[in-house]
Amino acid sequence: MTADPIPFLDLVTVHRELRGELRSVFEAALDTAGFIGGPMVQEFERDFAELCETRFCVGMASGTDAVRLALVAAGVQPGDTVVTVPLTFFATTEAISQAGARFDFVDVDARTYTMDPAKLRHYLETQCTPDTKTGRVVSKRTGSPVTAVIPVHLYGQMADMDPILEIAARYNLIVIEDACQAHGAEYFSNRVGGWRKAGSMGHAAAFSFYPGKNLGACGEAGAVTTDDERVARGCSMLRDHGQSKKYIHDIEGYNGRLDAIQAGLLRVKLRHLVKWNEERREVARVYDELLSDTATTVIRPHVPSWSRPVYHLYVVRVSDRDRLQKDLAAKGIGSGIHYPIPLHLVKAYEALGFRPGDFPVSEKLAPQILSLPMYPQLTAEQQQIVVRGLQEAITLQNEKLVLVS
Ligand SMILES: Cc1ncc(COP(=O)(O)O)c(C=O)c1O
Repeated sequence: MTADPIPFLDLVTVHRELRGELRSVFEAALDTAGFIGGPMVQEFERDFAELCETRFCVGMASGTDAVRLALVAAGVQPGDTVVTVPLTFFATTEAISQAGARFDFVDVDARTYTMDPAKLRHYLETQCTPDTKTGRVVSKRTGSPVTAVIPVHLYGQMADMDPILEIAARYNLIVIEDACQAHGAEYFSNRVGGWRKAGSMGHAAAFSFYPGKNLGACGEAGAVTTDDERVARGCSMLRDHGQSKKYIHDIEGYNGRLDAIQAGLLRVKLRHLVKWNEERREVARVYDELLSDTATTVIRPHVPSWSRPVYHLYVVRVSDRDRLQKDLAAKGIGSGIHYPIPLHLVKAYEALGFRPGDFPVSEKLAPQILSLPMYPQLTAEQQQIVVRGLQEAITLQNEKLVLVS
C-alpha cells in the first residue's frame, strides 16, 4: 500500500471546494419551490448551449434519455436500424432499443478507439443493400432501413467527424453524437475550416451529467444540444409528456425532464468546466511524460492533430491487464475498465447472433484497456506514484505488448 491511497476518482474534494455556492442553489430552490422547470433549467440550458456553440440545449433527466429522445426527435422511426460502435457504455445501445430501433455495429479505429469511418463506409457498401425508393440502405442483418449513426466521443476525445458526416450525407443518415463523455472537447473540421465543439457537429448530440463526468451533477442529469429548432422542440415535448403547452398533449412522450436543482448545481459547476478541462489536459501531459520510457509496455492515448480531447478518462493499454489492476489495487491505486466486454458480446445481446471475431479491434482492446486515476485535483506527485506502481507491476510481469494492427 502507498501511504495514502489514490482513488480512481475523487468527487468529494470538488464539492467541498464549491460547497457554499452549491448550498445557495438548494436554498434558492427551497425558497421558491422551483423544483420543476423554470429559470434554473432555462439558464443552465442557455449557458451549456453557449459552451457547445449550439443554438439550443434541452435539459434531460439523464444521458440515456438524451440519446433516446434525440434519436426520436431527429426522426428515427420504430424498426429503423441505427449504427454505432461496440466499444461504448451500454446506454448507447439501450437508448437505440428504447427508441424502438435496432442497432448494428461498426468497429473502432485501433488508435483513437472511436468509430472508424472506413469501417462505416465498408458496412454501408457491403452489409447493406440500396433501397432506390428511399435513397437509403437496408441492413442485411436487421432487414430494416439504416437511418442514423451514433459516433461516440469516447474518453473525452471526439470521433473523426468530417468523414463520418460526409458518409452520412451520402447515405442520408441522421447523425447523433454521443457526447456523454466529451463536454468541451474539440475537433478540427476541414469542412468548415476551424475547431468545432463536441455536440455541435451532428443533427443533435447527447450529454450525460452523471456525477463522475467532466461536468457532473449531484445526481442524474443529461442534455441534448442541436442547431435544429425542430429537433429542440421535439426534445422539449418528448421529455415532458408530449406537451406543447400545459395539458396540451400533441404526442405521447415521457417524464424525462432535467431536475431544476440539478440544473442550478450544474450551472455553478459549468463556470469551472473550462479550467477543469485544462487541468485534466495537464494531468494527461504529465502522464504522457512519465510514461514515455515505457512505450513498449504501455500504450498511451493517441491524440490526432484534429483532436483537442478533454480527458474524461486517461486510458492506457497493457498486457495482462486484470493482474496489473489487482497489483495496483494492492498498492492502494485505483483504476477502472471502460469497458470490459464489447457490447456485441454482452449477455443481454446473446440472442442477436453476434460472434467473437465480429469486431476484432474492440475485442482486442477490451482486455487491454486500463483507465488510470484522472481528475483535475490529481497532483503530479500522486501521478508519479501511480506510474511507479504501474512500472513495478509491469516489471513483475515482464511482458511486451503488441499493437493492434
Ligand atoms: C458513452 C455514454 N453514453 C451514454 C451514457 C448514459 O448517460 P447516463 O448515465 O447519464 O444515462 C453514458 C454515461 O455513462 C456514456 O458514457
